Amino acid sequence: MPKLRVAVLGATGAVGQELVRLLDDHPWFSLAVLVASDRSVGRRYGDVVDWRSPGFPPRGASGLVIQALGRPPGVDLVISALDSAVAGSAEAEFARAGYPVVSNSSSHRMDPDVPLVIPEVNASHLDALQAARSSSGGFIVTNPNCSTIGLVLALKPLWDRFGVSQVQVATMQAISGAGLDGVSAGMISDNVLPHIPGEEEKLETEPRKILGRWEGAFLPAGLAVSAACHRVAVLHGHLEAVSVKLKSVATVDEVVDALESFRAAPEIAALPSSPPLPVQLHHRPDRPQPRLDRGAGRGMTVSVGRVRECPVLDWKFTVLNHNLVRGAAGAALLNAELLVARGQVKSTLGAGARG
Ligand SMILES: NC(=O)c1ccc[n+]([C@@H]2O[C@H](COP(=O)([O-])OP(=O)(O)OC[C@H]3O[C@@H](n4cnc5c(N)ncnc54)[C@H](OP(=O)(O)O)[C@@H]3O)[C@@H](O)[C@H]2O)c1
Repeated sequence: MPKLRVAVLGATGAVGQELVRLLDDHPWFSLAVLVASDRSVGRRYGDVVDWRSPGFPPRGASGLVIQALGRPPGVDLVISALDSAVAGSAEAEFARAGYPVVSNSSSHRMDPDVPLVIPEVNASHLDALQAARSSSGGFIVTNPNCSTIGLVLALKPLWDRFGVSQVQVATMQAISGAGLDGVSAGMISDNVLPHIPGEEEKLETEPRKILGRWEGAFLPAGLAVSAACHRVAVLHGHLEAVSVKLKSVATVDEVVDALESFRAAPEIAALPSSPPLPVQLHHRPDRPQPRLDRGAGRGMTVSVGRVRECPVLDWKFTVLNHNLVRGAAGAALLNAELLVARGQVKSTLGAGARG
C-alpha cells in the first residue's frame, strides 16, 4: 500500500518537531508538507527550525520548504500542531475543504460534533464522524490536553472495573508543555508557577466527554473533577497527584490488579504507535519520576505509582506521561493510525487529489 501523504501544521513548534521526528520512516505515512508562520514560510525546514530533540532534524524533512497556511497542501491527511490562536479557524477551513484533520489544539475539543479521542479509551467515539463529515468529506478529530491524556488513561481501568465518581488532581507540568517559547528560564528557575491559563478548565471538562458515550450526541460521563495545575522546572513529563472516589468498594489488590491488567483492545494494540503497555504500574515508592520514566513505551506509556489509601476520597496515586509524545504528537499519530485502520482516512491517489 502506498504511504499516505501527511501535512504537519505548526511543524516548527515543540509538538510539530515531535511529529516530524515520529513521522520519519513511519510505516503508513510520509511527511509531504510542512506549514508554519510567515516567519518561516519559503525557507527550508532544516534552516529555520530551532530543533530541540537530540541530533538533527530528519533529512527528509530538512529539505522541505515551509508552506503558508492558506495554500492547499494536496495531501491525504492534515495533522495540526498550530498555536491555538490560529488553530480554530485554520483547522475548520481544512475540514471544509475536504481534509481529515487530526488536531492537538484545544480549539475544537469540546465542539458537539468533534470526537475527542484516546484510542485505548474511546475509539468508538469516531462513529460520530458519520454525522460530522462536511459535505466535502472533511472532518476534525482531536486529542485531549496533555495532562488529561495521562489522567484519563490512568482512570480508565478503574472506571471500567469499579466506576469513578470524583477525582482530585494536582499537576506538576513540564516546561515544554508551554511550547517552544512559553516559559523563560528567569520565570521557572527556583520556582513553581501556580497558574497555567485555561489548563484547570480543560482537565475538569475533557475527561467527562472522553469517558462519556456517543449516542447521536456526546453524553458526558457523570464524573466530577477538581484540578490544580502548576508549571515546574522539568523539561518534559507531566506528573499528577490524583485522588479518586470509586463507585464500588475495592481493596488495594483489586485496584492494583485493575491498573496492571489493563490492555488496549487488539485492534488498537496493533497500530504502529501503540506501546506494549498503555499503563505501566510501578511498585517502588520513589517512582514514577519524569527523568526516569517519561520515555516508557517510546513516550507512549503512562506510568502510575504510589497506589495507596486516601483518607478523604478512596485511593490516591501518581501519574506521569510524556507531554510531547503521549500528551500531544504521539497521541495525534495514534488517532491518525486508528482512522486509517477504521477506513476513515484513505489515500486520495486515483480519486482526484485534493488541493
Ligand atoms: N506543548 C505541549 O506539550 C502540548 C501538548 C498538547 C497540546 N498542545 C497544543 O499543541 C499546539 C502546539 O503547541 P506547541 O507547544 O508546539 O506550541 P509552539 O511551540 O508555540 O508552536 C506553535 C507552532 O504554530 C506555528 N504558528 C504560529 N502562528 C502561526 C500562523 N499564523 N500560521 C502558521 N503557523 C503558525 C508556529 O510557527 P513559527 O515557528 O513559524 O512561529 C509553530 O510551528 C497548541 O495548540 C498547544 O495548545 C501542546
